Amino acid sequence: MTTKVTARIYQGTPRNLAMLAKKLQVGELIGVPSETVYGLAADALNPTACRKIFKAKGRPTTDPLIVHLHHIKQLAAIAQVNPTALALAKAFWPGALTLILRKQSCVPDIVTSGLDSVAVRIPQHPLFRKLLKIAAIPLAAPSANPFGYVSPTTAEHVRDNLGNRIRYILDGGASKIGLESTIIDARDANKLRLLRPGAITPEQIESTLGMAVKSVHSRATSGSQVAPGMLSQHYSPRAKVVLHSVLSLDATSQSPDEARLYFAQPTGKPTIHTYWLDSSGNPQRAAHNLFAQLRMLDEKGYSILHAEKAPDGPYAAAINDRLERAAAKT
Ligand code: TXA
Ligand code: MG
Repeated sequence: MTTKVTARIYQGTPRNLAMLAKKLQVGELIGVPSETVYGLAADALNPTACRKIFKAKGRPTTDPLIVHLHHIKQLAAIAQVNPTALALAKAFWPGALTLILRKQSCVPDIVTSGLDSVAVRIPQHPLFRKLLKIAAIPLAAPSANPFGYVSPTTAEHVRDNLGNRIRYILDGGASKIGLESTIIDARDANKLRLLRPGAITPEQIESTLGMAVKSVHSRATSGSQVAPGMLSQHYSPRAKVVLHSVLSLDATSQSPDEARLYFAQPTGKPTIHTYWLDSSGNPQRAAHNLFAQLRMLDEKGYSILHAEKAPDGPYAAAINDRLERAAAKT
């Protein structure tokens, strides 16, 4: 792997979009913006192209990819649809919801890690949508980070991490949500299972569909994985993360090697080596800032991050899931 940066960041002009769509059609990889996090996209029906994704990320091929579509009318060609899945799709797409469904035979094994199910999502980001429309192919895209590292929420994050492994990045600004999509296993129309918490909550799904969602996501170890890719250690910055329900100053040392990451700006505390997700503790903004803050603290060279968990409320499950995974690093 060369260290030379080959990636260029492209603005979403009609001309660039047409060029990038062509690149996708001939099997190239593109870093793409989404409302959740940036993805690394390839033609989902081209196994050679999809294999490049695993190589660029250093991702084991046992961890399957999400297939992104432009329109719900493409869904039946990729996955076996049931009435519950359709109701979910109609309620939450385009948006930050990924559905696990039985796959159709056209989906290559490399995309699903040989499983008979496939993950599908229709994203909301306008530029990603334009690219999907012009390319007119389904796009397989995991988050555009090296395997195990924090997901990227800007084009620059993608270039920083994968700049020597890919050539094209589409700039769509900072990802609005900043956390990966909610994943729901909807293979069984009578039993929905939450595999990964995100901005769309089980409560929202339950109130929309009038159907319970069973939470099966867990910080499983590799031995007892509930679903592919649900490894406990994930989204980890280089620094060791120590989690605190309430971050008190006494719980941390004053070493210049250690940073404190509060949920909201603390009052009456020393400001040195002290950071927060959002000054007023707004959960949506905290979620939006989480990954960028973890990256920034890595760049500052801290070796220990004392992070405060999100208090109960919107986004708490998703934020704390990511923090717990970051802290699970051994
Ligand atoms: O927000 C998102 O979901 C972003 C954007 C780019 O769409 N993508 C993303 O992809 O987070 P990735 O690959 O980082 O996470 C997808 C997760 C992985 O944990 C993978 O194991 C799981 O989805 N997954 C994919 N296919 C699956 C399947 N058939 N069954 C169970 N889990 C699956
Ligand atoms: Mg990922």
